[in-house]
Amino acid sequence: MAILLTGGAGFIGSHTAVACLNASVDVVLADNFSNSSPKVLDRIEKITGKRPALYNVDVCDKRALRDIFAERFITGVIHFAGLKAVGESVRLPLAYYRNNLDSCLSVLEVMQEFGCKEFVFSSSATVYGDQPAPLTESADTGHCSNPYGWTKFMIEQILKDAAKANPELHVVLLRYFNPIGAHESGLIGENPNGIPNNLMPYITQVAVGKLKQLTIFGDSYDTPDGTGVRDYIHVMDLAEGHLAALGYAEAHAGCEVFNLGTGKGVSVLEMVNTFSSVNGVEVPYIIGERRAGDLATVYADPAKAEQILGWHAKRTVADMCRDSWNWQKNNPNGYDG
Ligand code: WQD
Repeated sequence: MAILLTGGAGFIGSHTAVACLNASVDVVLADNFSNSSPKVLDRIEKITGKRPALYNVDVCDKRALRDIFAERFITGVIHFAGLKAVGESVRLPLAYYRNNLDSCLSVLEVMQEFGCKEFVFSSSATVYGDQPAPLTESADTGHCSNPYGWTKFMIEQILKDAAKANPELHVVLLRYFNPIGAHESGLIGENPNGIPNNLMPYITQVAVGKLKQLTIFGDSYDTPDGTGVRDYIHVMDLAEGHLAALGYAEAHAGCEVFNLGTGKGVSVLEMVNTFSSVNGVEVPYIIGERRAGDLATVYADPAKAEQILGWHAKRTVADMCRDSWNWQKNNPNGYDG
C-alpha cells in the first residue's frame, strides 16, 4: 500500500515524502521535473534510509497514471503537481489553466477507475484574495488576483462537486500560507528555477552571494513597519500537516478544508532582520516599488486544523531562517551541486 505524491520531487512534495517515510507511510512519487530535480531522491534516501519509487511522468497523461496505479497499490493521493508562479500565471494563463486543471482531472479520473478514494489537495491562501486577517476557512473565497489563484479556486470547486456526486470520495483541501525553510539536515530545500519570485529563496541567494541585493517591494503599507506581512510556515510543519490530513481523509468521506498556517504575521523587514541575526550574515536590501497584486497583510486563523486534525505549527521564524540558510549555504546551486 502506498500514497501517490504527484509533484513529489518538488519543494513541499519532497519534504512531505520525508515526513511520510519517517512515519512508516509508504509513498510513490510522480514528477515531470519541470520545477524540480530527480537528484532529490538520493537526498530523501540519505535522510530516511528509504528510496521511494519515482516515476518521471506528466500527471496530465492518464496512460502514465494508469501504469502507476496498475503497478502499485495506491490507497490515496496527495496532489502537489502544478504550475505555481503567480507572475508567470499572469503572462501564461492558458498554460496554467490547461496544466493545473487538466492534471487534477486526470488524477481524479484514474483514481475512480482504480477505486482509490482518498485525495489531499495542495491549495493556497491565495483563494482568499484581499480579505481581513486572520483568515478562517469560512472566509469568502473567489477573490483571486491572478490565474494561478483562480486555478486553485476552480480545483477546489471541482473537488467539492466530485465529493458531492461520489459519497465514497474522501477529500481534504489544504490552504497553505507561506511555506519556507528546509529539512534540518540541509539535504533538501527550496530550489526555484531562475530568479526567485518568493521572499525567502531571494534572501538566501543574496546571503550566499548569488544575487546582489534584495528589493523590498514597498514600505508604505498599513502595517507596523510599512512592509508586507505574511504567515510564514516551516515546510516541515506543513509536511506534518499533510500526514494529519491523510489520517483525516482515511476516516472521513466528503470534502473538508483546512488552513495550514501559524496564525502569526511577520513583516518583510522582520524576516530580513531575523535571518541576519540568527545566521550572522548580512542581507543588503533597497526599498523599491510595490509589486502589482501584493496585499498588505495575510495570515491564518489556524484553529480548525488544531481542533480537528490535532495539528499545529511548532517551528519558529528563527528555525525557518536557520534551516533555509543551512540548505542554501550547503547547496549554493541547489541540487546541481
Ligand atoms: C512575501 C512578501 C512581498 C519577494 C506567494 C503566492 C502564494 C504562495 C506563496 C503558492 C510580500 C515581499 C517578496 C521579494 C519582497 N505560493 N517580497 N521582495 O506573494 O505572499 O505568496 O507565494 O501557493 O500563493 O502568492 O509570497 O514570498 O512572493 O512575498 O519584498 O523579492 O515578501 O511583497 O510582502 P506571497 P512572496
